[in-house]
Amino acid sequence: MHLSGPLSGRWTAYLGLISTLSGVITPAVAVKEHDFKKCAQSGFCSRNRALADHVLSTNSWSSPYSILPESGSFKDGQYQAVVLKTVNDNGDTVRLPLTVSFLESGTARVTIDEEKRQKGEIELRHDSKARKERYNEAEKWVIVGGLTLDKEAKVDFEDKSQLTVKYGPTSSNFEAVIKFAPFGIDFKRDGVSQIKFNDQGLLNVEHWRPKIEKPAVENKDTSEGEQNQEDKEEEKKEEEEEPKGEDESTWWDESFGSNTDSKPRGPESVGLDITFSGFEHVYGIPSHTGPLSLKTTRGGDGSYSEPYRLYNADVFEYILDSPMTLYGSIPFMQAHRKGSSVGVFWLNAAETWVDITKGKDSKNPLSLGIGSKTSTHTHWFSESGLLDVFVFLGPTPKDLTAKYGELTGTTTMPQEFALGYHQCRWNYVSDEDVKDVDRKMDKFKMPYDVIWLDIEYTDDKKYFTWDEHSFRDPIGMGKQLESHGRQLVTIIDPHIKNTDNYPVVAELKSKDLAVKNKDGNIFEGWCWPGSSHWIDAFKPAAREWWATLFKYASFKGSMENTWIWNDMNEPSVFNGPETTMPKDNLHDGNWEHRDVHNLNGMTFHNATHHALKTRKPGELRRPFVLTRAFFAGSQRIGAMWTGDNTAEWGHLKESIPMILSQNIAGFPFSGADVGGFFGNPDKQLLTRWYQAGAFYPFFRGHAHIDARRREPYLMGEPYNTIIAGALRLRYSLLPSWYTAFHQAHVDGTPIVKPLYYTHPDEEAGFPIDNQFFVGNTGLLVKPVTEENKETQDIFIPDNEVYYDYFTYNVVASGKAGKTVTVAAPLEKLPLLMRGGHIFPRRDIPRRSSQLQKWDDYTLVLTIPKDGKHAEGELYVDDGDSYDFEQGQYINRRFVYDGAAKTITSVDKEGRDTKSVKQGEWLKKYNGVRVDKIVVVGAEEKVWGKKTEVDVVDESGKGAWKAKVEFTPADKAAGRASFAVIKRVGASIGSNWKVEL
Ligand code: GLC
Repeated sequence: MHLSGPLSGRWTAYLGLISTLSGVITPAVAVKEHDFKKCAQSGFCSRNRALADHVLSTNSWSSPYSILPESGSFKDGQYQAVVLKTVNDNGDTVRLPLTVSFLESGTARVTIDEEKRQKGEIELRHDSKARKERYNEAEKWVIVGGLTLDKEAKVDFEDKSQLTVKYGPTSSNFEAVIKFAPFGIDFKRDGVSQIKFNDQGLLNVEHWRPKIEKPAVENKDTSEGEQNQEDKEEEKKEEEEEPKGEDESTWWDESFGSNTDSKPRGPESVGLDITFSGFEHVYGIPSHTGPLSLKTTRGGDGSYSEPYRLYNADVFEYILDSPMTLYGSIPFMQAHRKGSSVGVFWLNAAETWVDITKGKDSKNPLSLGIGSKTSTHTHWFSESGLLDVFVFLGPTPKDLTAKYGELTGTTTMPQEFALGYHQCRWNYVSDEDVKDVDRKMDKFKMPYDVIWLDIEYTDDKKYFTWDEHSFRDPIGMGKQLESHGRQLVTIIDPHIKNTDNYPVVAELKSKDLAVKNKDGNIFEGWCWPGSSHWIDAFKPAAREWWATLFKYASFKGSMENTWIWNDMNEPSVFNGPETTMPKDNLHDGNWEHRDVHNLNGMTFHNATHHALKTRKPGELRRPFVLTRAFFAGSQRIGAMWTGDNTAEWGHLKESIPMILSQNIAGFPFSGADVGGFFGNPDKQLLTRWYQAGAFYPFFRGHAHIDARRREPYLMGEPYNTIIAGALRLRYSLLPSWYTAFHQAHVDGTPIVKPLYYTHPDEEAGFPIDNQFFVGNTGLLVKPVTEENKETQDIFIPDNEVYYDYFTYNVVASGKAGKTVTVAAPLEKLPLLMRGGHIFPRRDIPRRSSQLQKWDDYTLVLTIPKDGKHAEGELYVDDGDSYDFEQGQYINRRFVYDGAAKTITSVDKEGRDTKSVKQGEWLKKYNGVRVDKIVVVGAEEKVWGKKTEVDVVDESGKGAWKAKVEFTPADKAAGRASFAVIKRVGASIGSNWKVEL
């Protein structure tokens, strides 16, 4: 190991940790930003930004890209042409094949490649082993559907300068105006421009070129007087005019810290400006801290001065409100304004940066900006690969998530237990420790489903082994958990300890399944185990081998309730550049790491998912695998969390926009470490964090090895009781969470939804990112994320009535756009119920989700302001197998009809459920019933005199009466009236009706 140059934060922390463990105390060092590149330290980022600076500061710029008109052809929904890039004043050009595909879904795709040269025509840098092509396999990993071409798409107009294609599903009215010179595309809906490509002229495909050794700069003879002066001026002028994008210093090599990246193919970045016309808000491109509505990035008040960066990295002690990269990336951006939502998906797995600016466009210079609208200009650039962009024209936010989901897949149906609470720390020190925590959670009546083991359970960080001194009986431990329906998650990372007598590393080497360095030798770097090698999960053979390691017989001590956590898969390499792998490392097919970096984590996560699916023949269960690194498509594989946050209020606060960003960008199964990973939360912070965490789709408490123990029962009163309350709230709402997950699985809908998504026409809600709705339940939550705060202001986005979840107080009675203040003492989470919904709950407190599996349901019906209509849903299946794909599920739609005075339950998809052949689970579920229906806001004139209602089971099981208890409103307290229909008794899966 060479330790030259400055140590990264990770390194220092790691060395510190080793010395702590060995009894030598070193101070913790928090090194942050300077371990990671700023744009100015990245060659291609600087070049693309310099190009933008040059272009935007001159009026005379004309983009050097144009379509060769005679090369164009349109067939079967696809336009193909050659874009010529003029590369010098002599008019020399480079040919860039362009494909614009119009897909049946109404999505358009624009791809620009670089024509492969004849052999010998281009010399790339030395005799590198790297593949000499633009990486074109991102699609293979990311796209799972939606690529069928729209054969109905038609050329509507064509002349020498442009071509217009009409496309999209009937009535969508989409068109793309493809301009030839300079090349650009204007995407319109209903004749109005929405998205423009190369409108600013920043398209940049750095073409391949041979490496020319430049002669040393000669000393000019200065004796030639005037002539020389003229030359100099001429030169200076030329220099000024020349785009500053041509700084060659990082074309072939680039250094950062003590690392030098060799670039065998030279400069090859792709960049493009994408304008969202008339849009003031853009969202997406997780993962970053900072607001959901993305900030501008070119300096000035309230703006960042760095572009948003997407380069998966293990950012030690990450900072808040920053465009710095984090552990995962999803290059999907949405723009929104009243009446329109549009988006782009930039399919490129190399390091990517995105600059954002906003500006008023005003056609009339005399208007002084009056009546002009704001547009958002974005500038994207990736280090290598294809330029490949999907364009979505909406018009609603839901259309965007659905179309994106069609392409990249939707959230996997989770293991039901995975929606429960997860108890983790680095580390539970022994099997006895685990069993003790398990018992204490019960003792303090805190439900949970999963306990986690971090890296210390292994024998010396050798994955698939156990530290035999502390974990003497893993199976005994697993069985205790199993006895009350609980699970164990063990961590397995992608770095494999480079040591003797470890069969896993021996096989990795002998089977040639590891990532290689630039010379084609097995790559060695440092991570938790010290010297390590990395599995190359891009290789099919590596994935098959990986699967063998998870068989119960291989991974001894694992059993049916053992699941996996994949960490450090950015990959994290402590002594690597920016704490990751050198970019000139080589993967399967000799693709450079540079080309695939952002995909790397997903391929590893995918390998583990595959391994769990095949760990026992015939055992077809849904895997649970948590990942830290991710890319577009990772949602199909498992859950993610936001990495190593800190036990500070600011981190609690920012966890919410971060999770909302994951939700709108197609990967909603997300959470943040409850309590904060680094540091020690005080009891108030921890309590508030549990209340917020109960509304994260993935709900896990976790802590750093140096942090004090903080299992929730250790807090003492009143905290224990309040935290237990938050946990139970989560558990009672699990049926609603599961239903929301199912919706996400079906069409990519977020599980938790920001206001612009639920109320796309309520402008005041567009920047709001600290409150959100859960699924379609109408539950609106705004966790308290500030210290000593005892009230909470909640923005009301519509004219509906809103009730307090716990008291049934009417907190808003029908005025959109106003803010209401609710009491929020520590014991109270600000949670409202919107009128007009019906959501399912389970009210009997149990120790784990698996123990409430067969419990009857409570339905909560919130009467809307006009009393007319409320509805809701419940989806349930066995929560474990894939039988739901064969119809083994219940999917109900509940409707309250105020005029007919009925509550009905029908199959949501209109299936004749009797014709579904019932498997074991479905049969047993016939015994699960609706226990009670709580009617919040029950009108006195309708419900006041009712003592019973008729229940009709429409599947022929008869009719009966159920008792009603009515409680009148308490005007003084502001509480709405409510009614409870008791012991309804209808089977949850059948059609039934309650008649008042
Ligand atoms: C990384 C993870 C953290 C874990 C630690 C040890 O820092 O992000 O969650 O506890 O590694 O495995």
